Amino acid sequence: MSFHTIIEPFRIKSVEAIRFTDHAEREGALEAAGWNVFLLHADDVLIDLLTDSGTGAMSAAQWGALMQGDESYAGSRSFYRFEAVVRDLTGFTHVIPTHQGRAAERILFHSTLQRGDVVPNNNHFDTTRANIEAEGAEARDLVIPEGRVPALVHPFKGNVDLAALERTLRDEGDRVPLVIVTVTNNSGGGQPVSIENLRGVRALCDRFNKRLFLDACRFAENAWFVKLREPGYSERTPKSIAQEMFGLADGCTMSAKKDGLSNIGGFLALNDDRWAEAARTLLILTEGFPTYGGLAGYDLEAIARGLEEVVDESYLRYRIRSIEYLAEKLHAAGVEILLPAGGHAIYLDARAMLPHVRPLAYPGIAVVNALYLEGGVRGVEIGSVMFGRQPDGSEQPAAMELVRLAIPRRVYTQSHIDYVAEVVIAVHRKRDELRGYRITSAPAVLRHFTARFERQS
Ligand code: F0G
Repeated sequence: MSFHTIIEPFRIKSVEAIRFTDHAEREGALEAAGWNVFLLHADDVLIDLLTDSGTGAMSAAQWGALMQGDESYAGSRSFYRFEAVVRDLTGFTHVIPTHQGRAAERILFHSTLQRGDVVPNNNHFDTTRANIEAEGAEARDLVIPEGRVPALVHPFKGNVDLAALERTLRDEGDRVPLVIVTVTNNSGGGQPVSIENLRGVRALCDRFNKRLFLDACRFAENAWFVKLREPGYSERTPKSIAQEMFGLADGCTMSAKKDGLSNIGGFLALNDDRWAEAARTLLILTEGFPTYGGLAGYDLEAIARGLEEVVDESYLRYRIRSIEYLAEKLHAAGVEILLPAGGHAIYLDARAMLPHVRPLAYPGIAVVNALYLEGGVRGVEIGSVMFGRQPDGSEQPAAMELVRLAIPRRVYTQSHIDYVAEVVIAVHRKRDELRGYRITSAPAVLRHFTARFERQS
């Protein structure tokens, strides 16, 4: 007998209380935080959907693995276990642990990019872009046009525009040292990339003699979408699909805080011996010896175990379905969301929701703050505050004004999600009353983390 309900494929052994606040408390807390939810105390947040990064629940087996951690400075047993798991999954020769994904990015880009270079990607995540720009290079987004239209349904909205990539590779020549594909495409709505598209990127990289790297933070969620949506993959295991994805690339950067099911960690894995040597040299400068890379031995154990658990079918079925469940509720209530649902998050289309707030009055911030005030739910703006500031200091509206509600892995139950849907729908009903914001102070780069705002009247 088959049942309709897809349940959480775990039971809960340890719980953490969350704190209820009233509207006046939240108003005070947000004002003190300069109307930027990044600056709130997390204790003042009821349901925290700021990120799915490092916020997941580890399994009993991962907590158990922590006690197996070997803290030797060099040659730790935990490193060799971690290396074996990453090699088995990715097939890459060199496995370099880092404290998180952006450290892998910095090490890769600092050792391979030169001023004036161009790095194509479907969509660069903010730290990826910032690390490329910090080297004086250009981060160029080449997602397919369908990937830029929030309401348009397409099975692989994260795909790279192959014609645009071909033009870039032809026109920029030696200025392109590598091509990146982000799976799933976080900045474009957590949307997957098909194997067929990855094969197309690989063929272009072969033709123009370029290296191809995956930004693999959410590789398992991408593999599950391939299984569901790409012809020929329905009988394959998520792990074998992931192996095929990695097999098309020359290396990857990875944040283990996402599909590593861990609270910290990451890695750079690659085949090129010379690039690996340069990366290890930098690693020693800023992260640590190559067998720990800024992590404790026990972190390496937790990641190794997490990478095995994340490709479990019942986990991925529940994971992707739980996001889709929230999307269905919101869509049915008429809330403007990015379709189809992403792998790790729901993206509200703040531009469509608040047509009366112009992009540079930050409609995404207006929606994020309203969600917090209404029900203590914390999301994040992915729009003109995050992407509007140009390297020359000018400001331009981002391609989309989104609000991401990222769902931590294995943390919230269906009733938490039902509550979130109620809060979003309540804010949606009041959308005509929401006003824009002005920035009162902000740093030059990555301003969304620490900018302060004031409300427009
Ligand atoms: N690449 C992608 C696609 C990401 O989503 C992130 C992090 C990184 C790289 C950097 O990894 O945080 O371990 O240094 N994304 C988080 C988020 C922060 O909220 O989406 P990190």
